[in-house]
Amino acid sequence: MRVLVVGSGGREHAIVWSFSRSRDVEKIYCAKGNAGISELAECVNIGPEDVAALAEFAEEQAIDLTFVGPENSLAAGITDEFESRGLKVVGASKAAARLESSKSFAKDFMSRHDIPTADYAAASSSEEASAILNSGRFGGETDPVVVKADGLAAGKGVIVARDRKEALEAVESLCAGKIVSAEAADTIVLEECLLGKEVSVILFADGESFALMPPARDHKRIGEGDTGPNTGGMGVVTDPQLINEAQKREIIAKIVRPTLDGARSEGFPVKGILFLGLMMTDAGPKVLEYNVRFGDPEAEAILVNLESDIAEISSAIVGGTLGDTIIQWKEGSSACVILASENYPSSPRTGDRIEGLESASKHENVEIFHAGTSFGDDGELVTSGGRVLAVTAIASNLSNSLHRAYKAVNEISWPGMQYRRDIGK
Ligand code: AMP
Ligand code: GLY
Repeated sequence: MRVLVVGSGGREHAIVWSFSRSRDVEKIYCAKGNAGISELAECVNIGPEDVAALAEFAEEQAIDLTFVGPENSLAAGITDEFESRGLKVVGASKAAARLESSKSFAKDFMSRHDIPTADYAAASSSEEASAILNSGRFGGETDPVVVKADGLAAGKGVIVARDRKEALEAVESLCAGKIVSAEAADTIVLEECLLGKEVSVILFADGESFALMPPARDHKRIGEGDTGPNTGGMGVVTDPQLINEAQKREIIAKIVRPTLDGARSEGFPVKGILFLGLMMTDAGPKVLEYNVRFGDPEAEAILVNLESDIAEISSAIVGGTLGDTIIQWKEGSSACVILASENYPSSPRTGDRIEGLESASKHENVEIFHAGTSFGDDGELVTSGGRVLAVTAIASNLSNSLHRAYKAVNEISWPGMQYRRDIGK
């Protein structure tokens, strides 16, 4: 099998790594890839949204299967383009990607299908949003409320405001294009603030059947103790105990099944990956967000647990036979700690030389996935993005996997490197 992976972060390194372990895979390309990915795949300089160029490349190179990492590629219609040319691709269609690319679309979809989620309102101007907040619909002046940009914003378009004043300020900043692009903020979504523990439930889906992956927990804030601004994710743990059997059944019955059936009935079956960001509230699980792709760093933490062959799973997704496919996972837990550059998430400094990676990579049961790395002038490894490395470990239980991951982290350094010491705590 000749495989193309689209994307260039830690998630895509983990996807490439999984394919590299398959007996059926002979050659892997990655567009665009990064320094770490280049050890396992041939990197191709085509951007994720250039879907026509990617399809031409796949035709020229006789690619058997393409696996899409990032949401912008899916929202740009890569799956529709590939399928129209008879190319096999794992990823949501443009129509299904709206579950992620428009929060108001997702909210309306959930309300049509009675899928539990936070109460919400959409507004098309800062005046309208402010008027809704001031009406008290989401609580009094001292109550928290969540303000979101409608469109794709790489995890940065959500502000959990502590009170109405903060919420009104968030509306102003979003509408002024200060936090995300003006396009992403053309509609503002206001939401009731939910309380509970968050858990990410990700599944493979072939439009009809699905297979759950081990549940994961992200750590979105930059600072320890969940402080500071949201990031793309600073660390993830997977552990079977994040949800119990009863909760799992409830999530399937009230959220997974209605989502897949609802999408199919509306003419956009979800194929590829479906990611449910859930809040486990006193009133049961509620959807915070849908993504139609692997999370990053959820992919890193989850894929190290996969025993089955990702090429076989991919073929089952494309062929609609996921229901007949048995997928096996390792039994323990995993931990992934993100090492980020100075000033991430606002304006990360890049170009710093990374030390200690070679010895850190030799630790047993540790995989280090590259997110933002490249080669410097002398061929040395340097930082090239906000999130730089995803240090991932597996063990029979969570505390051992955390211990292993942090032991490897301790060997790595560059000027200004930052990470959270409280992942999994
Ligand atoms: P989202 O991108 O919509 O998942 O939001 C990013 C993060 O903001 C989530 O992981 C939550 O931590 C938080 N968040 C989003 N919506 C809500 C909500 N309605 N109530 C409480 N927290 C929320
Ligand atoms: N880590 C969260 C995300 O990828 O959306």
